[in-house]
Amino acid sequence: MPIGTDISQAAALLRNGRIVGIPTETVYGLAANAYDPGAVLQIFQAKQRPAFDPLIVHVHAIAQAEEVASLETAEAAMREQAHALMRNFWPGPLTLVLPKAAQVPDLVTSGLGTVAVRMPAHPLTLRLLRSLPFPLAAPSANPFGYVSPTTAQHVADQLGGKVPYILDGGPCTVGLESTIIGWEQQAGAWVLYRPGGLPVEAVETVIGSVGRAQKAVVPASPGMLESHYAPLRPVFIGNVPLLMEAHSGKRIGVISFRENHHAQANEVLSRQGDLAEAARNLFAALRRLDAAPVDLILAEQFPGEGLGLAINDRLRRAAAKRE
Ligand code: TXA
Ligand code: MG
Repeated sequence: MPIGTDISQAAALLRNGRIVGIPTETVYGLAANAYDPGAVLQIFQAKQRPAFDPLIVHVHAIAQAEEVASLETAEAAMREQAHALMRNFWPGPLTLVLPKAAQVPDLVTSGLGTVAVRMPAHPLTLRLLRSLPFPLAAPSANPFGYVSPTTAQHVADQLGGKVPYILDGGPCTVGLESTIIGWEQQAGAWVLYRPGGLPVEAVETVIGSVGRAQKAVVPASPGMLESHYAPLRPVFIGNVPLLMEAHSGKRIGVISFRENHHAQANEVLSRQGDLAEAARNLFAALRRLDAAPVDLILAEQFPGEGLGLAINDRLRRAAAKRE
């Protein structure tokens, strides 16, 4: 199955109602014409994604976001803050959950009255979007519940047979999915649904404090589902030397921030202690350990601020799968 950098080939497929793997700065997406339910359905089929989990719509301009979201019906304060966020952080790893416009098919939003929108900061995908007369619905390009892909090859490895073309934009520069925030009408406040590639502290410098979503039985955002983003091997988080002792006799893979723990397989995410570098390396490291001859994966807890919040979130969910 072809991987390449041919934007016109990708555009032609998308215009014909097909799905295409696309690069973004966060993770690779599996894209379709957001206005074509038949095309969007193929995303759900290829990923084996349950229909209750809505997609993010990708746009190339604020004007296009206004076609997808109906901001005119929203309160003035919220509208102004939404625009301030778009101006400050787009293109970039921030997704806004906003009131949905009628022309977005229910399949994209799983029947919700809201739609998730973002403008990705990747030159190839922005050029692709500008060449199309419609926005692109795209979840991460992994089978449902598995770790997100951060290279075109990751997409090919897992979805290759199901995707006619993967646009190769190189390794993702952020490496974690976008931060998702949404306006909760009843609370009259913005709430964090998923920590991600934009530190929530940065969002708060523009709109003030953002609420933290509580875990719910029916999650407001399925991104809040536990056991999401999980590798196949069991993952345990905590004090790595103690965990290594507790699991002695087993073959162990370790994910650590700066220091090598000398297990059978070791992934040190940033020797210089840079959280952005660690975030960029996290998913590829999880994939390598998942493919390594180890019985389990141990991970350190990362500093709980900035991108560390999102790294810990993804590790916690990876661990939740086996608990
Ligand atoms: O960085 C990203 O966000 C990547 C790239 C490809 O843009 N996309 C991504 O998509 O991570 P996905 O589908 O894997 O995760 C999107 C999350 C889902 O958990 C979904 O539940 C949530 O966004 N979401 C989508 N629409 C929503 C809505 N209307 N309300 C609440 N959550 C929503
Ligand atoms: Mg995903």
